[in-house]
Amino acid sequence: MRAAVLSWIAIGLWLATAVAVGAMLVRGRTEPTDDGRTAVVLDPGETAFVLGEMQVLLASLQSIVRGLADNDMKAVRAAAVRSGGSVVSSVPASLALKLPMGFRELGRDVHDAFDEIAVAADQGETREMILGHIDRLIGRCIACHSAYQLR
Ligand code: HEC
Repeated sequence: MRAAVLSWIAIGLWLATAVAVGAMLVRGRTEPTDDGRTAVVLDPGETAFVLGEMQVLLASLQSIVRGLADNDMKAVRAAAVRSGGSVVSSVPASLALKLPMGFRELGRDVHDAFDEIAVAADQGETREMILGHIDRLIGRCIACHSAYQLR
């Protein structure tokens, strides 16, 4: 009888932990803001890491546009790869856990969009077509910036 009660308590504790961990993965470490965006609460080092990544995204975008202007598809490809999906694995796990699910998804979308541009440049798509990819890419930058803030 006591063993049964203890098992139920153990199962209850396990479920509570599973629910808490699940909620943490969906919400990350966040707070509401006055302007309706969601603030992601990070340590100063993590904030510096994220903002540093942002600078790289903007620099890659500029190099892509420069490559298009020069009609240099090798340069377009190289710039796009620099911010493609292969860089996602450099995000420390402790930081990834604080990011809400929507933020992580938008982040993945943006890296996928850079990969699409790399493939497009490789496959000889026209500059007009690549501009279309860039338009969708910037749409993803805007989507995240209008939804999230760092604190
Ligand atoms: C997953 C979300 C997300 C995506 C996608 C995203 N950003 Fe950001 N970015 C942020 C957040 C959050 C900040 C901090 C803004 C704040 O706290 O007000 C930021 C800040 C920046 C900054 C300022 C950096 C600094 O040092 O202050 C730049 C530049 C930037 N982003 C460029 C980009 C570009 C270019 C793209 C698309 C190619 C992009 N971002 C996509 C979330 C994102």
